[in-house]
Amino acid sequence: ARITLRQLLDHAASHGYAVPAFNINNMEQGIAIMQAAAEVDAPVIIQASRGARSYAGDLMLSHMIDALERTYPDIPLCMHQDHGNDEATCASAIAHGFTSVMMDGSLKADAKTAADYDYNVAITRRVVDLAHWVGASVEGELGVLGSLEHGGGEQEDGHGVEGKVSHDQLLTDPDQAVDFVGATKVDALAIAMGTSHGAYKFSRKPDGDILAMRVVEEIHRRLPNTHLVMHGSSSVPQPLQDMFNEFGGEMPQTWGVPVEEIVRGIKSGVRKVNIDTDCRLAMTAVFRKVAAQARSEFDPRKFLKPAMDAMRELCRERFEQFGTAGHA
Ligand code: G3H
Ligand code: 13P
Ligand code: ZN
Repeated sequence: ARITLRQLLDHAASHGYAVPAFNINNMEQGIAIMQAAAEVDAPVIIQASRGARSYAGDLMLSHMIDALERTYPDIPLCMHQDHGNDEATCASAIAHGFTSVMMDGSLKADAKTAADYDYNVAITRRVVDLAHWVGASVEGELGVLGSLEHGGGEQEDGHGVEGKVSHDQLLTDPDQAVDFVGATKVDALAIAMGTSHGAYKFSRKPDGDILAMRVVEEIHRRLPNTHLVMHGSSSVPQPLQDMFNEFGGEMPQTWGVPVEEIVRGIKSGVRKVNIDTDCRLAMTAVFRKVAAQARSEFDPRKFLKPAMDAMRELCRERFEQFGTAGHA
């Protein structure tokens, strides 16, 4: 059954768990998530980026979600727009059956200037009004995702931030978070604590200098009733890096967000944990393995089925680690 982000995260908060939000672009990823959820009785958040919507097409995507929902009628399913950039993107997502949207008003911000903040508050507030009129939920974002390690950070699109941006400007400011939630009435708040999108988050196992979980704890202390969201939460598991590289891939050694740090966040109000890279890596490492080991193979299902199985395994692990299992 389709539910909103608000309904799901309220339940997660009252039972002390978090829900991984997995990105999808195609049928195999959708099936992998639902199979994993059914195996462990977990509610799901499936999210689609703007890129996913243009890749699959809105009609294909929305019918795929309908089919997944009907195939697994007992699994609560929240369909979420990942990183919406304006009102039109959020409104059209809702029109296609999404029950939740992210209005990422921090996308535009190169640094935390007052004008950027005012823009973020205003556009997020407009999207909250619009979404709440029709019963959908809204996630807002405050702060800039980007590596603290590289001392200047990287924009959310992976490009460098112009000029010098200090660590403090990248991390979400707790005072501003209090103001933002009050002004916008968002259902969930994405905050920046040093993670970034993609595989190359950290060049060493992260410590508190580069992965600032204390920011999460401080914001939770100030906003105990606000559902917090962690983006860039792939762990980039070593075994997947190894498999990828063993079969001809070229991925320099990298570190993601350790699962135990996410679990620490879950004790401090983190209720939605965004994961895309790990799923991509699980699937692609298997493609490479099949391509290397079965060189005469040309039936795409021989690649896609084991890739789907690998993603299902990963999803199930996260449902168990985040305490989502058993809450469907
Ligand atoms: O926000 C980042 C997600 O991993 C989605 O990525 O825009 O390439 O679909 P994408
Ligand atoms: P990863 O790249 O760490 O999987 O993060 C995904 C994400 O935050 C999507 O919004
Ligand atoms: Zn994200």
